[in-house]
Amino acid sequence: MTIAHQHQKRVKSTRLKVWRGTNEDNGRYEEFDVAFEDGDSVLDGLVRIRQQFEPDLAIRFSCFNANVCKECTMLIDGEVDMRVSPSCDPV
Ligand code: FES
Repeated sequence: MTIAHQHQKRVKSTRLKVWRGTNEDNGRYEEFDVAFEDGDSVLDGLVRIRQQFEPDLAIRFSCFNANVCKECTMLIDGEVDMRVSPSCDPV
């Protein structure tokens, strides 16, 4: 294996299911396939969705993966968590 291969990042794909709406009675889930690299957070995936597909996707964050401000707290798989904590898993 060459040094170039050792430093090459593996880009994978994952599917994120995102609730879009104002409350549980007014909204819908939308699914997005996004690229991710090992170690990426859910926040990384949401930012990619916003940049690549849905510029109107509202997400809140401040320190971006520094795990300091708690601005990104939300429900992830039914648990209250910060988007920087859980990592994206392959589909
Ligand atoms: S963006 Fe700061 S902890 Fe999540």
